[in-house]
Amino acid sequence: MLPFPRLLLPQLRLSMAVLSAIQAGMDRLSITGGCKLNGEISISGAKNSALKLMAASLLTGEPLTLTNMPNLADTRFLSQLLASLGVEVYWPKGHSECRLNAETLTSTIAPYDQVRKMRASFNVLGPMLARYGHATVSLPGGCAIGARPVDLHLKALEAMGADLLVEGGYVKAAAIHGLKGARVVFPFVSVGATEHAMLASTLAKGTTVLENAAREPEIADLADCLNKMGAKITGAGSDTIRIEGVETLNGTEHAVMADRIEAGTYAMAAAAAGGDVTLTGAPVAALGAMIAALGEAGVEVDADEVGATLRIQRNGSALKAVNINTQPHPGFPTDLQAQFMALMSLADGTSIIRENIFENRFMHAPELSRLGAKIEVRGKEAVVRGVKALKGAPVMATDLRASVSLVIAGLAAEGETSVNRIYHLDRGFERLEEKLSGCGADIRRLADSE
Ligand code: EPZ
Repeated sequence: MLPFPRLLLPQLRLSMAVLSAIQAGMDRLSITGGCKLNGEISISGAKNSALKLMAASLLTGEPLTLTNMPNLADTRFLSQLLASLGVEVYWPKGHSECRLNAETLTSTIAPYDQVRKMRASFNVLGPMLARYGHATVSLPGGCAIGARPVDLHLKALEAMGADLLVEGGYVKAAAIHGLKGARVVFPFVSVGATEHAMLASTLAKGTTVLENAAREPEIADLADCLNKMGAKITGAGSDTIRIEGVETLNGTEHAVMADRIEAGTYAMAAAAAGGDVTLTGAPVAALGAMIAALGEAGVEVDADEVGATLRIQRNGSALKAVNINTQPHPGFPTDLQAQFMALMSLADGTSIIRENIFENRFMHAPELSRLGAKIEVRGKEAVVRGVKALKGAPVMATDLRASVSLVIAGLAAEGETSVNRIYHLDRGFERLEEKLSGCGADIRRLADSE
């Protein structure tokens, strides 16, 4: 167990983080394609689970210890936001154990600059409101993949009795007598709204029922942790979640689930570049739709759910074109759509990729085309006509998953690909170059001037 000294200088740490983000923003990745990938890659903790688990620390005055924490720009950023609210954060650089103690908050205000940079910061609203009866959090605004409103989050909190005032770009929330249990029927599936409502309702008076809830594995992970903290949640992972409110929650220790999107990304990298890669510590059971799509594409995938390993092999065989449709879990995840498009750009035939979750998530298509991919975007669909080979080129991306799709294409392309704006990658992929070069990829991080 780690000791738990007080973190004294959250402001200073924040500016150091901003400096290193600027520095990373100037870096690029240089990839010389054509090397097959052979070896083992261990999968890190899931970013999208870690961020919500970290927000859960605000629900209790006792320490929450998270293990298997991914060291990413996003998780580090949220730890700094929590520190600025008064949470004692103990997370030495490079460590995968993080301790958060929200015994006394010094503020319940999350400002624009922090929420704008990372949307998941918005999730601090519900826990602070549930525990303290008030919170003010900036609206996150849109982002590169779509408008991404938070109306469902707000409706759920209102149903639990919160008074909300949306003014000057902020949500000012109050529940003087505490939140109360409610029946919330989501008009469509939202991962973030389901998680936010679940977090807030743990401390509400009475029972909350969330219907048409998201079924993503990260929601079950969050419920597991909250239940260890003393919450009474059943049904997480199904479309109906029931939460019986309790008066207080306690601290606990919880291991963040493995990252299914990171695992799926490396599976597609191995499929695109060819070779034989074993992913260890992979959340195999959470990857059904991706495993099925790779199998249809003619990639050999051996999944061991018990041992949590996924072996991907492709040695010379052609890739078949496969159509996919992104859907909420257990459908094909939107967070793997860009990576699958990179793979399909090398398939034999034409595949149709339909994006149903976000309205603007094809920004990687024109960049993949710079490498020679033949992609035509028609509204929600991208028509990908497979080509025999891609050729390296300088590219840049607008978001995390789009960036990594360019890395996959670069690994399979002939010659050098330079991926710019890699601060996106640092938000969600831990030690990406190290993991790929460990399997024989020729990939290097260079300063912009190199
Ligand atoms: C989460 O975003 C993930 N982010 C996303 O991962 C992921 O793509 C997405 O779920 C879908 O799986 C985190 O967990 C931090 P949603 P979230 O609410 O919760 C609309 C990545 O690359 N909507 O399920 O924001 C929304 O605009 C990221 O790691 C509303 O209209 O996704 C979208 O079209 C990107 N009103 C759809 O619902 C709302 O109040 C689904 O969004 C909420 C959402």
